[in-house]
Amino acid sequence: MAERIEVLLSEEEVNKRIREIGDQISRDYAGKQVHLVCVLKGGSFFMCELAKRITVPVSLDFMSVSSYGKDTKSSGVVRIVKDLDEPLTDKHVLVIEDIVDSGRTLSYLLEMLKDRGPEDVKLCTLLDKPSRRVVDVKVDYTGFEIPDEFVVGYGLDYDQKYRNLPYVGIVKFD
Ligand code: IMP
Ligand code: MG
Repeated sequence: MAERIEVLLSEEEVNKRIREIGDQISRDYAGKQVHLVCVLKGGSFFMCELAKRITVPVSLDFMSVSSYGKDTKSSGVVRIVKDLDEPLTDKHVLVIEDIVDSGRTLSYLLEMLKDRGPEDVKLCTLLDKPSRRVVDVKVDYTGFEIPDEFVVGYGLDYDQKYRNLPYVGIVKFD
């Protein structure tokens, strides 16, 4: 079935908001180095744009996770597909995600990262669908709260497509 994409957040809106978040992070982490942990693949476009707007020293690392089979989905257990290259000991960790939906992936991931001895762990997401939350997750920086629609672009995919769109759009089937 062919789908079409309806613009939800334009490229200008997204870029403007990323600048604002970058400014806020730069203020909040003044005098510190922030260690950005990108959750692949969706978080990569957001992280690159955001990192360019942060004025305090930045280091980067990447990880990739996937949910275990559907039987354990409700437990929120995730499997590490690619782990971080570096330890988190004493670092100011800022996890960068594309979207927080049920919150299952993030709540599990944040607990796992906190066990690795960082100074602190915070969460920054481009998009948040609060109406879909099943597990409580504290989001420290949010780009946009969006309605319960399936969105693509700026790193988010539908069947691995559309990650490269420079805006966020809603997938429509009609
Ligand atoms: P959750 O918060 O554990 O339910 O999972 C969030 C993950 O589901 C995100 O990292 C995305 O990979 C995916 N996801 C959730 N909502 C959307 C959407 O609207 N478009 C594309 N991917 C989504
Ligand atoms: Mg993701």
